[in-house]
Amino acid sequence: MFRNRSVVVNISIFLLTLQGTLSLRNVQLLVPDSVERGSRVEMKCVYDLEQEVLYTVKWYRGDREFCRYSPRDVPPLKIFRIPGIEVDRDATDSQRLTIQAATRTANGRYTCEVSADAPSFQTAQVHALMYVVDLPKSGPEMQGLKQYYRPGMKLKVECVSHNSLPAANLSFFINSEPAHKQHVWHRVGPANGSLWNAYSTIQFVVQKHHFIRGKMKIRCTANIYSIYLKSNEQCALEERVPTTPDSLPEINEVVLYPIHRMAETSDCE
Ligand SMILES: *[C@@H]1O[C@H](CO)[C@@H](O)[C@H](O)[C@H]1NC(C)=O
Ligand SMILES: *[C@@H]1O[C@H](CO)[C@@H](O)[C@H](O)[C@H]1NC(C)=O
Repeated sequence: MFRNRSVVVNISIFLLTLQGTLSLRNVQLLVPDSVERGSRVEMKCVYDLEQEVLYTVKWYRGDREFCRYSPRDVPPLKIFRIPGIEVDRDATDSQRLTIQAATRTANGRYTCEVSADAPSFQTAQVHALMYVVDLPKSGPEMQGLKQYYRPGMKLKVECVSHNSLPAANLSFFINSEPAHKQHVWHRVGPANGSLWNAYSTIQFVVQKHHFIRGKMKIRCTANIYSIYLKSNEQCALEERVPTTPDSLPEINEVVLYPIHRMAETSDCE
């Protein structure tokens, strides 16, 4: 009796192990998170079949299958055309799919479904999002920065990134530190066609600590997913208050000034 039970246990462990080895592993869909409209896109569906044989790899855009690779079929590659998604047959195989030129239709969710052949017919699905983007033709522009500020003065600068889809995310930095959220306002407005402009305004009262060696750097950064990052940096100088009798003797100022001026011209327009 006892011996029988131990045999049953052993068999079930064996079956579990067998299933474990006969499995698809590490199925991954490698798709760029964002691509420029019109660009060629290569996607990879990588997997480890271990002991198994590949039955099919199916590709979906949204819920619609548009490409299937079945090594036993002749030819192995079948395309179910979605207008706007042109598959490059010569650059598509069991682990990769190439789209000739990304259109707006190509924006969305992709699925790769891998199936192993008999006896297991195991299937695994993985998903990834891809954004098709219209990039701005030029970097962000900044307006409103004066050349000189004194502590207590109001600073107001507007940054614009023109003509993109989606609108760029704008951020301000003061001396390379992110600006306080409560000092920044964001707005998005329609531009040409289906494109958008992004606007941000920063406004705050300048303090002594905003100047590093007499200089304040204001940077605006425009960012679209991981595909686009451009910035514009401008500098303002601390306005010198007229010297009082208590301040340093004039001879020291003469020594200090040239050093400051050289540093300023080297990294700020
Ligand atoms: C909008 O597009 C037209 C033609 O495509 C161009 O002439 C015009 O300069 C564009 N306007 C802006 C604000 O980019
Ligand atoms: C902008 O930033 C938000 C928040 O971090 C992010 O969810 C969104 O995807 C970004 N949009 C773009 C176009 O980069």
